[in-house]
Amino acid sequence: MRDFTILSMKYTKSIGTRDILPEEAVIWEYALSVLREASSLYGYGEIRTPAFENAEVFIHSVGDTSDIVTKEMYLFQDKSERQLVLKPEGTASIVRAYVENHYHVKPKPVKLYYIDTFHRYERPQKGRYREFHQYGAELFGSQEPSSDAELIELCIFILKKLGFQHLVLDLNSIGCKICRPPFREKLIAFLRSKVQQLCKDCSERIEKNPLRVLDCKNPICQAAIVGAPCMEEHLCEDCKAHYSELQKYLDHLQISYRKNPLLVRGLDYYQRTVFEVLSSDLGSQSALLGGGRYDELVESMGGPATPAIGFAMGLERLIMLLQQLPDPLPLQSLHPHCFIAIESSQQLTLALQIASLLRQNRYRTEIDLEAKGIKKGLEIAIKKNASFALMLGSQEISLDQVTIKDLAQRTQESIPLKELLPYLNQRGGTIE
Ligand code: HAM
Repeated sequence: MRDFTILSMKYTKSIGTRDILPEEAVIWEYALSVLREASSLYGYGEIRTPAFENAEVFIHSVGDTSDIVTKEMYLFQDKSERQLVLKPEGTASIVRAYVENHYHVKPKPVKLYYIDTFHRYERPQKGRYREFHQYGAELFGSQEPSSDAELIELCIFILKKLGFQHLVLDLNSIGCKICRPPFREKLIAFLRSKVQQLCKDCSERIEKNPLRVLDCKNPICQAAIVGAPCMEEHLCEDCKAHYSELQKYLDHLQISYRKNPLLVRGLDYYQRTVFEVLSSDLGSQSALLGGGRYDELVESMGGPATPAIGFAMGLERLIMLLQQLPDPLPLQSLHPHCFIAIESSQQLTLALQIASLLRQNRYRTEIDLEAKGIKKGLEIAIKKNASFALMLGSQEISLDQVTIKDLAQRTQESIPLKELLPYLNQRGGTIE
Protein backbone atom coordinates (compact mmCIF):
# COMPACT_ATOMS: atom_id res chain seq x y z
CA MET A 1 0.00 0.00 0.00
CA ARG A 2 1.28 3.51 -0.76
CA ASP A 3 2.20 5.54 2.28
CA PHE A 4 0.14 8.67 1.83
CA THR A 5 1.40 10.23 5.04
CA ILE A 6 4.88 10.52 3.52
CA LEU A 7 3.46 11.98 0.32
CA SER A 8 1.45 14.60 2.18
CA MET A 9 4.25 15.65 4.51
CA LYS A 10 5.31 18.51 2.30
CA TYR A 11 2.18 20.40 3.39
CA THR A 12 2.42 20.93 7.10
CA LYS A 13 0.76 23.46 9.34
CA SER A 14 2.64 26.61 10.14
CA ILE A 15 4.65 26.60 13.40
CA GLY A 16 2.56 27.48 16.42
CA THR A 17 -0.80 26.73 14.78
CA ARG A 18 -3.16 23.84 15.38
CA ASP A 19 -5.86 21.89 13.62
CA ILE A 20 -8.93 21.35 15.74
CA LEU A 21 -10.40 18.00 14.75
CA PRO A 22 -13.95 16.79 15.48
CA GLU A 23 -13.02 14.91 18.69
CA GLU A 24 -11.71 18.19 20.12
CA ALA A 25 -14.18 20.47 18.36
CA VAL A 26 -17.10 18.97 20.34
CA ILE A 27 -15.35 20.03 23.53
CA TRP A 28 -14.91 23.54 22.10
CA GLU A 29 -18.61 23.65 21.25
CA TYR A 30 -19.49 22.60 24.76
CA ALA A 31 -17.12 25.14 26.37
CA LEU A 32 -18.37 27.92 24.08
CA SER A 33 -21.97 27.16 24.99
CA VAL A 34 -21.07 27.52 28.70
CA LEU A 35 -19.19 30.77 27.97
CA ARG A 36 -22.07 32.24 25.98
CA GLU A 37 -24.63 31.31 28.59
CA ALA A 38 -22.52 32.74 31.43
CA SER A 39 -21.97 35.97 29.46
CA SER A 40 -25.68 36.40 29.01
CA LEU A 41 -26.39 35.65 32.70
CA TYR A 42 -23.97 38.42 33.70
CA GLY A 43 -25.35 40.87 31.15
CA TYR A 44 -22.60 40.79 28.50
CA GLY A 45 -23.45 41.24 24.81
CA GLU A 46 -21.25 39.79 22.08
CA ILE A 47 -18.92 42.03 20.07
CA ARG A 48 -17.03 40.95 16.95
CA THR A 49 -14.19 43.07 15.65
CA PRO A 50 -12.15 42.70 12.43
CA ALA A 51 -9.31 40.14 12.22
CA PHE A 52 -6.81 42.93 11.52
CA GLU A 53 -6.55 46.48 12.79
CA ASN A 54 -4.38 49.51 12.13
CA ALA A 55 -1.11 48.88 13.95
CA GLU A 56 -1.50 52.10 15.96
CA VAL A 57 -4.45 50.63 17.87
CA PHE A 58 -2.12 48.22 19.66
CA ILE A 59 1.10 50.23 19.74
CA HIS A 60 -0.72 53.01 21.52
CA SER A 61 -2.58 50.86 24.03
CA VAL A 62 -0.77 47.61 24.76
CA GLY A 63 2.39 49.67 24.91
CA ASP A 64 5.55 50.19 22.92
CA THR A 65 7.64 48.61 25.67
CA SER A 66 5.56 45.44 25.97
CA ASP A 67 6.77 42.15 24.43
CA ILE A 68 3.50 41.85 22.55
CA VAL A 69 4.15 45.07 20.62
CA THR A 70 7.93 44.99 20.36
CA LYS A 71 8.47 41.34 19.52
CA GLU A 72 5.29 39.46 18.85
CA MET A 73 3.00 41.35 16.50
CA TYR A 74 2.19 39.98 13.05
CA LEU A 75 2.72 43.30 11.37
CA PHE A 76 2.29 43.79 7.63
CA GLN A 77 1.78 46.43 5.03
CA ASP A 78 -1.17 46.26 2.66
CA LYS A 79 -1.00 47.32 -0.98
CA SER A 80 -1.73 50.92 0.01
CA GLU A 81 1.18 50.80 2.45
CA ARG A 82 -1.02 50.88 5.52
CA GLN A 83 0.60 49.35 8.61
CA LEU A 84 -1.76 46.61 9.77
CA VAL A 85 -1.59 43.89 12.42
CA LEU A 86 -3.34 40.61 13.02
CA LYS A 87 -4.88 41.28 16.43
CA PRO A 88 -2.55 40.11 19.21
CA GLU A 89 -5.25 40.62 21.88
CA GLY A 90 -8.83 41.82 22.17
CA THR A 91 -9.01 44.74 24.59
CA ALA A 92 -7.47 47.46 22.41
CA SER A 93 -9.70 46.48 19.54
CA ILE A 94 -12.82 46.50 21.72
CA VAL A 95 -11.90 49.92 23.11
CA ARG A 96 -11.38 51.21 19.56
CA ALA A 97 -14.82 49.86 18.62
CA TYR A 98 -16.41 51.22 21.82
CA VAL A 99 -15.20 54.72 21.02
CA GLU A 100 -15.74 54.54 17.26
CA ASN A 101 -19.32 53.27 17.65
CA HIS A 102 -20.18 55.84 20.38
CA TYR A 103 -20.97 53.15 22.91
CA HIS A 104 -20.24 55.62 25.68
CA VAL A 105 -23.79 56.97 25.27
CA LYS A 106 -25.25 53.59 26.31
CA PRO A 107 -26.40 53.07 29.90
CA LYS A 108 -23.46 52.10 32.09
CA PRO A 109 -21.96 49.73 32.73
CA VAL A 110 -21.55 48.60 29.13
CA LYS A 111 -20.60 44.93 29.11
CA LEU A 112 -19.11 43.27 26.05
CA TYR A 113 -17.76 39.77 25.48
CA TYR A 114 -15.88 38.19 22.61
CA ILE A 115 -14.68 34.83 21.37
CA ASP A 116 -11.95 35.48 18.88
CA THR A 117 -8.71 34.38 17.23
CA PHE A 118 -5.45 36.18 18.02
CA HIS A 119 -1.86 36.01 16.78
CA ARG A 120 1.42 36.50 18.60
CA TYR A 121 4.85 35.56 17.32
CA GLU A 122 5.84 33.66 20.45
CA ARG A 123 8.01 30.64 21.08
CA PRO A 124 5.49 27.81 20.84
CA GLN A 125 5.24 25.47 23.80
CA LYS A 126 2.55 23.57 25.67
CA GLY A 127 -0.49 25.83 25.81
CA ARG A 128 1.29 28.65 23.95
CA TYR A 129 0.70 29.11 20.24
CA ARG A 130 1.18 31.71 17.53
CA GLU A 131 -2.48 31.49 16.65
CA PHE A 132 -4.77 31.07 19.63
CA HIS A 133 -8.27 31.83 20.81
CA GLN A 134 -9.59 33.78 23.73
CA TYR A 135 -12.89 34.34 25.42
CA GLY A 136 -12.83 37.82 26.91
CA ALA A 137 -15.17 40.14 28.79
CA GLU A 138 -14.86 43.91 29.18
CA LEU A 139 -16.90 46.10 31.50
CA PHE A 140 -16.99 49.86 30.80
CA GLY A 141 -18.15 52.73 32.95
CA SER A 142 -17.58 51.73 36.55
CA GLN A 143 -14.53 52.22 38.71
CA GLU A 144 -16.17 50.70 41.75
CA PRO A 145 -14.43 47.66 43.23
CA SER A 146 -17.83 45.94 43.08
CA SER A 147 -17.38 45.74 39.30
CA ASP A 148 -13.94 44.16 39.73
CA ALA A 149 -15.54 41.64 42.09
CA GLU A 150 -18.43 40.90 39.74
CA LEU A 151 -16.06 40.39 36.80
CA ILE A 152 -13.79 38.10 38.81
CA GLU A 153 -16.88 36.21 39.95
CA LEU A 154 -17.79 35.69 36.30
CA CYS A 155 -14.39 34.02 35.72
CA ILE A 156 -14.87 31.72 38.69
CA PHE A 157 -18.50 31.01 37.75
CA ILE A 158 -17.41 29.88 34.28
CA LEU A 159 -14.57 27.72 35.51
CA LYS A 160 -16.73 26.07 38.18
CA LYS A 161 -19.50 25.48 35.68
CA LEU A 162 -16.97 23.74 33.47
CA GLY A 163 -16.00 21.50 36.37
CA PHE A 164 -12.71 23.00 37.57
CA GLN A 165 -11.99 22.86 41.27
CA HIS A 166 -8.28 23.31 41.82
CA LEU A 167 -7.59 26.82 40.65
CA VAL A 168 -5.67 29.70 42.13
CA LEU A 169 -6.72 33.33 41.80
CA ASP A 170 -3.72 35.67 42.00
CA LEU A 171 -4.50 39.26 42.81
CA ASN A 172 -2.54 42.49 42.95
CA SER A 173 -2.97 46.23 42.66
CA ILE A 174 -0.39 48.07 40.59
CA GLY A 175 -1.56 51.54 41.58
CA CYS A 176 -2.48 54.49 39.45
CA LYS A 177 -0.81 57.47 37.77
CA ILE A 178 -0.43 59.13 41.17
CA CYS A 179 1.24 56.38 43.18
CA ARG A 180 2.97 54.36 40.48
CA PRO A 181 5.60 56.91 39.31
CA PRO A 182 7.29 57.30 42.73
CA PHE A 183 7.16 53.52 43.20
CA ARG A 184 8.65 53.08 39.74
CA GLU A 185 11.57 55.33 40.62
CA LYS A 186 12.27 53.35 43.80
CA LEU A 187 12.09 50.11 41.88
CA ILE A 188 14.44 51.38 39.17
CA ALA A 189 16.98 52.36 41.84
CA PHE A 190 16.71 48.89 43.37
CA LEU A 191 17.01 47.12 40.01
CA ARG A 192 20.02 49.17 38.95
CA SER A 193 21.83 47.73 41.93
CA LYS A 194 20.97 44.23 40.69
CA VAL A 195 21.63 44.69 37.01
CA GLN A 196 24.43 42.12 36.92
CA GLN A 197 22.09 39.47 38.32
CA LEU A 198 19.23 39.96 35.86
CA CYS A 199 18.54 38.17 32.58
CA LYS A 200 19.32 40.09 29.38
CA ASP A 201 15.66 41.06 28.78
CA CYS A 202 15.22 42.32 32.33
CA SER A 203 18.43 44.31 32.36
CA GLU A 204 17.09 46.10 29.28
CA ARG A 205 13.68 46.56 30.94
CA ILE A 206 14.99 48.42 33.99
CA GLU A 207 14.57 51.91 32.59
CA LYS A 208 11.71 51.31 30.15
CA ASN A 209 9.41 48.88 31.94
CA PRO A 210 10.81 48.09 35.40
CA LEU A 211 7.57 46.61 36.75
CA ARG A 212 7.83 43.77 34.23
CA VAL A 213 11.04 42.62 35.90
CA LEU A 214 8.92 41.68 38.92
CA ASP A 215 7.02 38.95 37.11
CA CYS A 216 9.86 37.60 34.96
CA LYS A 217 9.67 33.81 35.16
CA ASN A 218 13.45 33.38 34.96
CA PRO A 219 14.65 31.93 38.32
CA ILE A 220 17.78 34.12 38.16
CA CYS A 221 15.63 37.25 38.11
CA GLN A 222 13.27 35.87 40.74
CA ALA A 223 16.23 35.44 43.07
CA ALA A 224 17.59 38.91 42.24
CA ILE A 225 14.36 40.73 43.10
CA VAL A 226 14.06 39.37 46.61
CA GLY A 227 13.79 42.47 48.82
CA ALA A 228 12.51 44.71 45.98
CA PRO A 229 10.12 47.50 47.00
CA CYS A 230 6.52 46.29 47.19
CA MET A 231 3.75 48.13 45.32
CA GLU A 232 1.10 47.50 47.96
CA GLU A 233 3.13 49.47 50.49
CA HIS A 234 3.30 52.39 48.04
CA LEU A 235 -0.37 52.59 47.02
CA CYS A 236 -2.02 55.98 47.44
CA GLU A 237 -5.03 56.21 49.78
CA ASP A 238 -7.58 55.79 46.96
CA CYS A 239 -5.83 52.77 45.45
CA LYS A 240 -5.38 51.24 48.88
CA ALA A 241 -9.09 51.65 49.63
CA HIS A 242 -10.04 50.27 46.21
CA TYR A 243 -7.87 47.20 46.69
CA SER A 244 -9.12 46.51 50.18
CA GLU A 245 -12.79 46.97 49.15
CA LEU A 246 -12.27 44.46 46.35
CA GLN A 247 -10.85 41.94 48.79
CA LYS A 248 -13.88 42.41 51.05
CA TYR A 249 -16.25 41.74 48.17
CA LEU A 250 -14.33 38.62 47.19
CA ASP A 251 -14.47 37.42 50.80
CA HIS A 252 -18.23 37.95 50.84
CA LEU A 253 -18.55 36.07 47.58
CA GLN A 254 -16.41 33.30 49.10
CA ILE A 255 -13.87 33.56 46.33
CA SER A 256 -10.45 32.67 47.66
CA TYR A 257 -7.45 34.52 46.30
CA ARG A 258 -3.75 34.83 46.83
CA LYS A 259 -2.26 38.31 47.05
CA ASN A 260 0.70 38.26 44.70
CA PRO A 261 2.75 41.48 44.90
CA LEU A 262 4.85 40.29 41.95
CA LEU A 263 1.90 40.04 39.57
CA VAL A 264 2.25 42.83 37.03
CA ARG A 265 1.03 41.49 33.66
CA GLY A 266 2.54 42.30 30.34
CA LEU A 267 0.25 44.97 28.95
CA ASP A 268 0.87 48.65 29.60
CA TYR A 269 -2.76 49.72 29.90
CA TYR A 270 -3.38 48.27 33.35
CA GLN A 271 -3.73 50.15 36.58
CA ARG A 272 -5.00 49.21 40.03
CA THR A 273 -6.47 45.69 39.95
CA VAL A 274 -4.65 42.97 38.03
CA PHE A 275 -5.43 39.28 38.37
CA GLU A 276 -4.76 35.88 36.90
CA VAL A 277 -6.28 32.46 37.40
CA LEU A 278 -3.69 29.71 37.32
CA SER A 279 -3.83 26.00 37.01
CA SER A 280 -0.94 23.85 38.11
CA ASP A 281 -1.81 21.22 35.49
CA LEU A 282 -0.30 23.29 32.72
CA GLY A 283 3.23 23.58 34.07
CA SER A 284 5.14 26.82 34.23
CA GLN A 285 3.13 28.78 31.65
CA SER A 286 0.05 28.22 33.66
CA ALA A 287 -2.18 31.30 33.42
CA LEU A 288 -5.58 30.19 32.25
CA LEU A 289 -6.85 33.72 32.22
CA GLY A 290 -5.66 37.19 33.03
CA GLY A 291 -7.14 40.61 33.33
CA GLY A 292 -7.17 43.93 35.03
CA ARG A 293 -8.44 47.45 35.25
CA TYR A 294 -7.63 49.99 32.52
CA ASP A 295 -9.27 53.21 33.65
CA GLU A 296 -7.49 55.51 31.23
CA LEU A 297 -7.44 53.57 28.01
CA VAL A 298 -10.80 54.73 26.62
CA GLU A 299 -9.87 58.37 27.08
CA SER A 300 -6.41 57.86 25.64
CA MET A 301 -8.01 56.32 22.56
CA GLY A 302 -10.22 59.32 21.95
CA GLY A 303 -13.30 58.57 24.06
CA PRO A 304 -14.61 60.29 27.16
CA ALA A 305 -12.98 59.38 30.49
CA THR A 306 -14.38 55.90 31.15
CA PRO A 307 -13.04 53.49 33.75
CA ALA A 308 -13.01 49.88 32.63
CA ILE A 309 -11.96 46.38 33.59
CA GLY A 310 -11.77 43.09 31.73
CA PHE A 311 -10.15 39.72 31.37
CA ALA A 312 -9.39 37.15 28.71
CA MET A 313 -9.17 33.39 28.95
CA GLY A 314 -6.99 31.29 26.66
CA LEU A 315 -9.26 28.74 25.05
CA GLU A 316 -6.54 26.28 23.99
CA ARG A 317 -5.43 26.05 27.61
CA LEU A 318 -9.00 25.75 28.82
CA ILE A 319 -9.77 22.91 26.42
CA MET A 320 -6.50 21.15 27.26
CA LEU A 321 -7.48 21.16 30.92
CA LEU A 322 -11.07 20.19 30.22
CA GLN A 323 -9.78 17.10 28.46
CA GLN A 324 -7.98 16.14 31.68
CA LEU A 325 -11.07 16.40 33.89
CA PRO A 326 -12.35 13.09 35.21
CA ASP A 327 -15.98 13.53 34.15
CA PRO A 328 -16.82 12.54 30.61
CA LEU A 329 -17.34 15.49 28.34
CA PRO A 330 -20.00 15.67 25.69
CA LEU A 331 -18.09 13.54 23.23
CA GLN A 332 -21.35 11.63 22.76
CA SER A 333 -22.39 14.07 20.05
CA LEU A 334 -19.75 12.43 17.89
CA HIS A 335 -21.31 9.02 18.41
CA PRO A 336 -24.35 8.03 16.39
CA HIS A 337 -27.48 6.98 18.22
CA CYS A 338 -28.19 4.54 15.41
CA PHE A 339 -26.06 2.86 12.83
CA ILE A 340 -27.87 1.02 10.04
CA ALA A 341 -26.15 -2.13 8.86
CA ILE A 342 -27.48 -3.65 5.64
CA GLU A 343 -27.12 -7.02 3.96
CA SER A 344 -26.62 -5.63 0.45
CA SER A 345 -27.13 -2.53 -1.67
CA GLN A 346 -30.74 -3.68 -2.16
CA GLN A 347 -31.60 -2.26 1.25
CA LEU A 348 -29.90 1.10 0.66
CA THR A 349 -33.04 2.98 -0.38
CA LEU A 350 -34.95 1.83 2.69
CA ALA A 351 -31.92 2.57 4.89
CA LEU A 352 -31.74 6.11 3.53
CA GLN A 353 -35.47 6.61 4.19
CA ILE A 354 -35.23 5.27 7.74
CA ALA A 355 -32.15 7.38 8.46
CA SER A 356 -33.93 10.46 7.16
CA LEU A 357 -36.91 9.81 9.45
CA LEU A 358 -34.66 9.19 12.45
CA ARG A 359 -32.63 12.35 11.85
CA GLN A 360 -35.80 14.40 11.58
CA ASN A 361 -36.59 13.05 15.03
CA ARG A 362 -33.18 14.11 16.32
CA TYR A 363 -31.48 10.73 16.34
CA ARG A 364 -27.92 10.95 15.05
CA THR A 365 -27.95 8.25 12.42
CA GLU A 366 -25.39 6.78 10.08
CA ILE A 367 -25.66 4.15 7.39
CA ASP A 368 -23.21 1.63 5.98
CA LEU A 369 -23.37 3.43 2.64
CA GLU A 370 -21.04 0.95 1.02
CA ALA A 371 -23.29 -1.99 1.89
CA LYS A 372 -20.54 -4.16 3.32
CA GLY A 373 -22.92 -6.68 4.85
CA ILE A 374 -24.49 -7.07 8.27
CA LYS A 375 -21.40 -8.46 10.01
CA LYS A 376 -19.09 -5.71 8.79
CA GLY A 377 -21.82 -3.11 9.42
CA LEU A 378 -22.08 -4.26 13.02
CA GLU A 379 -18.34 -3.95 13.43
CA ILE A 380 -18.45 -0.37 12.17
CA ALA A 381 -21.37 0.44 14.50
CA ILE A 382 -19.32 -0.79 17.45
CA LYS A 383 -16.22 1.13 16.35
CA LYS A 384 -18.29 4.29 16.01
CA ASN A 385 -19.69 3.80 19.49
CA ALA A 386 -23.28 3.79 18.27
CA SER A 387 -25.99 3.16 20.86
CA PHE A 388 -28.04 0.93 18.54
CA ALA A 389 -27.27 -1.06 15.43
CA LEU A 390 -30.28 -1.41 13.15
CA MET A 391 -30.00 -4.41 10.87
CA LEU A 392 -31.82 -4.66 7.58
CA GLY A 393 -31.60 -7.86 5.55
CA SER A 394 -33.85 -9.44 2.97
CA GLN A 395 -35.63 -11.35 5.73
CA GLU A 396 -36.43 -8.18 7.71
CA ILE A 397 -37.64 -6.45 4.58
CA SER A 398 -39.97 -9.29 3.63
CA LEU A 399 -41.52 -9.12 7.12
CA ASP A 400 -41.54 -5.30 7.25
CA GLN A 401 -39.29 -5.50 10.26
CA VAL A 402 -35.99 -4.21 11.55
CA THR A 403 -33.65 -5.96 13.95
CA ILE A 404 -32.31 -3.71 16.68
CA LYS A 405 -29.23 -4.47 18.71
CA ASP A 406 -28.69 -2.43 21.85
CA LEU A 407 -24.90 -2.30 21.77
CA ALA A 408 -24.50 -1.34 25.41
CA GLN A 409 -26.97 -3.86 26.84
CA ARG A 410 -26.02 -6.49 24.24
CA THR A 411 -29.68 -7.32 23.66
CA GLN A 412 -31.31 -7.82 20.30
CA GLU A 413 -34.90 -8.00 19.06
CA SER A 414 -36.85 -7.69 15.84
CA ILE A 415 -39.72 -5.21 15.74
CA PRO A 416 -42.14 -3.97 13.08
CA LEU A 417 -40.58 -1.09 11.16
CA LYS A 418 -43.43 1.24 12.05
CA GLU A 419 -42.63 0.75 15.73
CA LEU A 420 -39.03 1.81 15.36
CA LEU A 421 -39.54 5.42 16.42
CA PRO A 422 -41.75 4.65 19.44
CA TYR A 423 -39.22 1.96 20.41
CA LEU A 424 -36.34 4.46 20.36
CA ASN A 425 -38.40 7.18 22.01
CA GLN A 426 -39.22 4.82 24.84
CA ARG A 427 -35.52 4.25 25.36
CA GLY A 428 -34.81 7.96 24.94
CA GLY A 429 -33.77 8.16 28.58
CA THR A 430 -30.82 5.90 27.93
CA ILE A 431 -29.74 7.72 24.80
CA GLU A 432 -27.38 10.62 25.39
P1 HAM B 1 -3.06 38.09 28.21
O1 HAM B 1 -2.59 37.73 29.58
O2 HAM B 1 -2.07 38.49 27.23
O3 HAM B 1 -4.18 39.20 28.39
O4 HAM B 1 -3.87 36.85 27.63
C1 HAM B 1 -4.94 36.28 28.36
C2 HAM B 1 -4.87 34.78 28.28
O5 HAM B 1 -4.78 34.37 26.90
C3 HAM B 1 -3.64 34.16 28.92
O6 HAM B 1 -3.82 33.99 30.31
C4 HAM B 1 -3.55 32.83 28.20
O7 HAM B 1 -4.44 31.89 28.77
C5 HAM B 1 -4.03 33.19 26.80
N1 HAM B 1 -2.90 33.37 25.90
C6 HAM B 1 -2.12 34.47 25.74
N2 HAM B 1 -1.17 34.27 24.83
C7 HAM B 1 -1.34 33.01 24.37
C8 HAM B 1 -0.69 32.18 23.39
N3 HAM B 1 0.35 32.63 22.70
N4 HAM B 1 -1.16 30.94 23.18
C9 HAM B 1 -2.22 30.47 23.88
N5 HAM B 1 -2.88 31.19 24.81
C10 HAM B 1 -2.45 32.43 25.05
C11 HAM B 1 -4.83 39.78 27.35
O8 HAM B 1 -4.82 39.37 26.23
C12 HAM B 1 -5.69 40.94 27.79
N6 HAM B 1 -6.33 41.50 26.60
C13 HAM B 1 -6.72 40.48 28.81
C14 HAM B 1 -7.62 41.58 29.23
C15 HAM B 1 -8.86 41.81 28.79
N7 HAM B 1 -7.32 42.52 30.09
C16 HAM B 1 -8.35 43.35 30.20
N8 HAM B 1 -9.28 42.93 29.40
